[in-house]
Amino acid sequence: MAKPAAGWIPLFKKRFVLFVVVILSVSTVFVCFIRGASAPCDPPRNGLAAAVDRAKLPRHSDVDVGARKNPLGFMRTKLVLLVSHELSLSGGPLLLMELAFLLRTVGSRVVWITYPKSEETNEVTYSLEHKMLNRGVQVISAKGQEVIDTALKADLVILNTAVAGKWLDAVLKERVPQVLPKILWWIHEMRGHYFKLEYVKHLPFVAGAMIDSHTTAEYWKNRTRDRLKIQMPETYVVHLGNSKELMEVAEDSVARRVLREHIRESLGVRSGDLLFAIINSVSRGKGQDLFLHSFHESLKLIQEQKLQVPSMHAVIVGSDMNAQTKFETELRDFVLKRGIQDRVHFVNKTLAVAPYLAAIDVLVQNSQARGECFGRITIEAMAFKLPVLGTSAGGTTEIVVNGSTGFLHPVGKEGVILLAKNMVKLATHVERRLTMGKKGYERVKERFMEHHMAERIALVLKEVLNKSAAHSHS
Ligand SMILES: *[C@@H]1O[C@H](CO)[C@@H](O)[C@H](O)[C@H]1NC(C)=O
Ligand SMILES: *[C@@H]1O[C@H](CO)[C@@H](O)[C@H](O)[C@H]1NC(C)=O
Ligand SMILES: *[C@@H]1O[C@H](CO)[C@@H](O)[C@H](O)[C@H]1NC(C)=O
Ligand SMILES: *[C@@H]1O[C@H](CO)[C@@H](O)[C@H](O)[C@H]1NC(C)=O
Repeated sequence: MAKPAAGWIPLFKKRFVLFVVVILSVSTVFVCFIRGASAPCDPPRNGLAAAVDRAKLPRHSDVDVGARKNPLGFMRTKLVLLVSHELSLSGGPLLLMELAFLLRTVGSRVVWITYPKSEETNEVTYSLEHKMLNRGVQVISAKGQEVIDTALKADLVILNTAVAGKWLDAVLKERVPQVLPKILWWIHEMRGHYFKLEYVKHLPFVAGAMIDSHTTAEYWKNRTRDRLKIQMPETYVVHLGNSKELMEVAEDSVARRVLREHIRESLGVRSGDLLFAIINSVSRGKGQDLFLHSFHESLKLIQEQKLQVPSMHAVIVGSDMNAQTKFETELRDFVLKRGIQDRVHFVNKTLAVAPYLAAIDVLVQNSQARGECFGRITIEAMAFKLPVLGTSAGGTTEIVVNGSTGFLHPVGKEGVILLAKNMVKLATHVERRLTMGKKGYERVKERFMEHHMAERIALVLKEVLNKSAAHSHS
């Protein structure tokens, strides 16, 4: 199950709750759905089936949205070219695809290119392309006359991630200056190796940059100035929002309960146990090693102080034994050496995070160094009324309100004991834990929903269109 099954991706984005319900009554498909789970798939038991029967059909939220005025409505009939650096299930391309669909909903003409396009088409790229074609997004070659003509005609060109900048010189060549005034550059990264002139030398001359958090925007401003001696263009900070599919599961108590029971059973975690999770690709930057140290410290604190708390478990969702062998091995060795293998669970990488969010009690966001650019999993967890224990770095500080929707701890070794203490705090204060979860949910409803993101993006697109129009008339 290392690769997503062919049928899985088209299913993934459909009416999610209905999907959950269908999935739970068809045990073979269920394997695909939670392809990260470590336990073999049992057929649903009677309890599950009964819960499924009671599950209500999904609400048709499209109807409500139709009634509200769509903030992107002014994009109707506009031609938008989207330049993606890859076509995969990673965060950047998926986000651009979400924007493509938002634009299609209001009737924009949307053209997608992937540059560089990898030679092999696999199941993932195949189904993503089909998903786009089904929604009326045109997918064309990133090279050749057609894309050059499209770029010249387009009202707006959106480059996704710094790396996509390579496409400009490679394909547009001497036409680059004509296209620059209508480019919006969407940046989701905060890592050193993106600061190469090869990628971003045209950045100062585009209409605008759109960045996922204030911290990341400031970092880009500093770095381009200090390292590359170039200036950022007009920069807009646009916080992301939760997809409708995710919110549907998060707000469906039956679906949540069914998923919670199933995942806990597959992990061997009882319903009364307290489950802490870190949900990120396993790598040193995401801090799973320090999280395990904190978890171990929290168990020691509980023992030393003879605290009465439920049995504590930790789950790391995002393993990939093929890619990260050394670090993965280090994590597993640590668990064995401390003898906590009954309490620590590893789950393979998966895109379907909702079942895990339904199953856990606390999300830990332990990204190190400069932290997350934004950290979508944080707002996803908050949608599930989970408190978040996060590093006080990067976008996390703009999402988590310390002391209200969770607690922040410093990055690095100095954060280990504080995180452990925060874990103990949430274990001993049930009321506080639940209140923090509710506060997090309220915060999501106030500012991290898809419609919020659409409103914020709409303001940016309006300005960029206006600017490029002014440019072409001058
Ligand atoms: C997890 O991934 C490893 C290697 O990548 C694979 O051997 C193992 O079967 C996977 N486990 C599950 C439950 O899919
Ligand atoms: C940017 O630079 C300023 C000083 O020039 C510094 O105070 C700030 O912390 C830096 N911000 C980031 C995110 O690097
Ligand atoms: C978070 O709040 C706690 C008290 O609730 C405080 O001790 C800690 O210093 C705060 N951390 C940050 C990063 O603001
Ligand atoms: C477009 O730009 C002009 C100035 O160039 C400004 O007067 C006008 O208000 C702008 N319109 C919008 C919708 O931003």
